[in-house]
Amino acid sequence: MPAPDEIRRLTAPDIRARKGGVPLVCLTSYHAHTARLVDAHCDVILVGDSLGMVMHGLETTVPVTLDMMILQGRAVMRGSRRALVVVDMPFGSYEASKEQAFASAARVMKETGCGAIKVEGGRRLAETIAFLVERGVPVMGHIGLTPQAINTIGSFRAQGRDESDWAPIEADARAVAGAGAFAVVIEAVAEPLGRRITAEIAIPTIGIGASVACDGQILVLEDMLGLSPRVPKFVKRFGDLGPSIEQAIKAYAQDVRARTFPGPDHVYAMRKSAVTELPQRGKGPSRA
Ligand code: KIV
Repeated sequence: MPAPDEIRRLTAPDIRARKGGVPLVCLTSYHAHTARLVDAHCDVILVGDSLGMVMHGLETTVPVTLDMMILQGRAVMRGSRRALVVVDMPFGSYEASKEQAFASAARVMKETGCGAIKVEGGRRLAETIAFLVERGVPVMGHIGLTPQAINTIGSFRAQGRDESDWAPIEADARAVAGAGAFAVVIEAVAEPLGRRITAEIAIPTIGIGASVACDGQILVLEDMLGLSPRVPKFVKRFGDLGPSIEQAIKAYAQDVRARTFPGPDHVYAMRKSAVTELPQRGKGPSRA
């Protein structure tokens, strides 16, 4: 039983209930240490398949595997306590059938302990989303620009910039909401369309390059911290960590080359009473 002062983790129904309320704050994270920092300020942490591009330098998210998502999902769960952790389902792990989607989602939930999963796609995934939700898997949808479809759409381009293109995107939003998703990410769509969908559907919309009217916003952490070399137009850089990290690495390299690191504070002195012992064969120093 949880102790009375134990922090309760947010759930998918908590997020669903925030429609039209105080905006939901969401960020990605792939590691325990960044998850701890994000957890203190965010409602949702997304373990996005963008990790393929950000952590592994891949050109697209297409090669990301279920094992990669599970490994980083576990790390983020260990690093966080309060935010709802949502793990992205990678390309190829859910599209073949609703049964395949359930098997993959169940693995993700059992092996990471996360509270929800995210899938990309609108109308074509409605049946799958309903199947998952009926079987106890909370689903976040993702419509508009869906990066896993890069090989059929050709480029990462904003969607719905002509009003004549709105109807299918709105139909996707309605389908995902109607199928039982608890929230939906809307990526890179014309601002009036993001605003209109938010007013139209009953579940929270999480914008990324969509509209300030959305029920919440999400960004890739490394993009907003200034660590990613190239970012889409919709990213505001809230930090510029690249130069300070580079400066720290440069200072470290200089200290090592000048033999000024490690200094007296960073090495272990002998205990006063200790007798000099010769190192035993096969035994390395401890990390104490
Ligand atoms: O993979 C990801 O990080 C995402 C966000 C950009 C929404 O899907």
